[in-house]
Amino acid sequence: MNDTFEKISLLQELGVHIPPWYTALPLVARIAIGFVGSVALIIGLNVFRQVALPRNKSLPPMVFHYIPWFGSAAYYGEDPYKFFFECRDKYGDVFSFVMMGRTLTVALGPKGNNLSLGGKTSQVRAEDAYTHLTTPVFGKGVVYDCPNDMLMQQKKFIKSGLTTEALQSYPPLITSECEEFFSHDLKLSKSNPTVKVDLLKTMSELIICTAARTLQGKEVRQAINGKFAQYYEDLDGGFTPLNFLFPNLPLPSYRRRDKAQKAMSDFYMKIIEERKKGESDHEHDMISSLQGSVYKDGVPLTDRDISHIMIALLMAGQHTSSATSSWALLHLADRPDILEALYQEQVKHFGKADGTFSPMTYEAVKDLPLMDSVIRETLRMHAPIHSIYRKVISDIPVPPSLAAPAENSSYVIPTGHFILAAPGVSQMDPLIWQNSKTWTPERWLEEKGVGQTAVNTYTKSEQVDYGFGAVSKGTESPYQPFGAGRHRCVGEQFAYTQLSTIIAYIVRHFTMKLEVPSFPETNYRTMIVLPKNPYVSFTLRKQEV
Ligand code: HEM
Repeated sequence: MNDTFEKISLLQELGVHIPPWYTALPLVARIAIGFVGSVALIIGLNVFRQVALPRNKSLPPMVFHYIPWFGSAAYYGEDPYKFFFECRDKYGDVFSFVMMGRTLTVALGPKGNNLSLGGKTSQVRAEDAYTHLTTPVFGKGVVYDCPNDMLMQQKKFIKSGLTTEALQSYPPLITSECEEFFSHDLKLSKSNPTVKVDLLKTMSELIICTAARTLQGKEVRQAINGKFAQYYEDLDGGFTPLNFLFPNLPLPSYRRRDKAQKAMSDFYMKIIEERKKGESDHEHDMISSLQGSVYKDGVPLTDRDISHIMIALLMAGQHTSSATSSWALLHLADRPDILEALYQEQVKHFGKADGTFSPMTYEAVKDLPLMDSVIRETLRMHAPIHSIYRKVISDIPVPPSLAAPAENSSYVIPTGHFILAAPGVSQMDPLIWQNSKTWTPERWLEEKGVGQTAVNTYTKSEQVDYGFGAVSKGTESPYQPFGAGRHRCVGEQFAYTQLSTIIAYIVRHFTMKLEVPSFPETNYRTMIVLPKNPYVSFTLRKQEV
């Protein structure tokens, strides 16, 4: 208290006029006024700096914000697409914003994506943007906890485990998981023909069971209802926006994440050990494919590396596929005409004279135009990943065609910024797609894409090998739900097989109805773009289960 009095008298001595009413106030009130005053001063200075002080013209325009450090976190976090589209209208395709002490530069549109997703490793690094989030979850030595060149080789090893032969074996396994799930877990039967569910929860369970049965292997499938489920839940609790922003907080969820990582890693190690001893029979799955993989320099993947890659694959596929299947099924529940057309597609390709269906096969699944369009269109509107980040490690000049800055200078995205790609913006851009906000699977059925004003360029792209086999570079495509460039997804074919088989099973056996008054809104507060309140009911088509 004496200290406060001393400061006040010091200010008075310096000639600052302190009004008598202030000194007459109780201490708490003076502290409160002082606090509010300081905040107002900080905000005022931040506003003054942005509107009145000259800014380095080579820097991209900065999104106006009141609170320093916090910046546009709330504006961006609440609805990133609203943020991106509004800022694009105001600032153009390239602009920066502050979020929790970081400066991010958004580069939109196909050309913008090319800067980040197609950026050179000497300019942008994914590992510097993600490792603090992913390494505590996946474990050390893999993905973003190793040099990019090693990640490229790990992706090659993963691709070798997803051969056509492996993918061919999946539809029957996935179908059998669906049968088990709908009849036993959801208890749909002749006597109980309709069940109302939280679709996201339902699909998360089905996705993890089908991924376990196929990609992850028998032992994981057997443990899925036991300890594995708990490890997964705790690890997943460490994969949130909070973890992304604050890698190490002294919170119970962080401690649970670390404990679960160790337990999960040991769980996979034990599987590998028992397989080596010949103590378990198993199919040729991802673990067995990774065993024996050797880096270019002759160093083999260790068992620990394999365990951590398996965790990474589990996490990479789980939310993306659960979200995509949920959105697709929500749209089908909302559009009985498309649901019926999908059913007729199944009848046409697999229907038998007795009214039953022949089994799904990998080849047949790949040749279902409407099914393909439904998934494609769902990913167009609901790309699970709305923002893809890279750390800028050397200045990136922005081509003038992308952003035309004033006064003959060119923008440079400086070292230390994060560069953010948002492929979902061009995927929903009304300048590229007719009725861009309406779910229209039919747009994909025609050669040039019905309802697509631009030529359908996404398939015509330069082929590049970044170290995991030739892939279409695709960085300038307006359609990139699986990313582009060196970090492009290697799980796309698996995801399509899994999603088509599950959706086909559901369409064959059930009709669906939305159990909410209007189509669910989007929750952007999670790492993955998810539906809010996704309630639907499944009703048995025929009295057959
Ligand atoms: C990378 C989307 C399913 C494994 C990516 C990226 C995207 C993506 C956008 C690029 C990330 C970046 O550039 O930073 C999706 C979607 C999926 C899906 C929409 C499902 C609908 C899967 C599945 C697996 C998987 C099932 C595993 C089997 C990977 C891997 C990478 C990746 C290993 C590479 C990461 C890197 O190189 O940095 N995915 N993914 N994904 N995805 Fe997927």
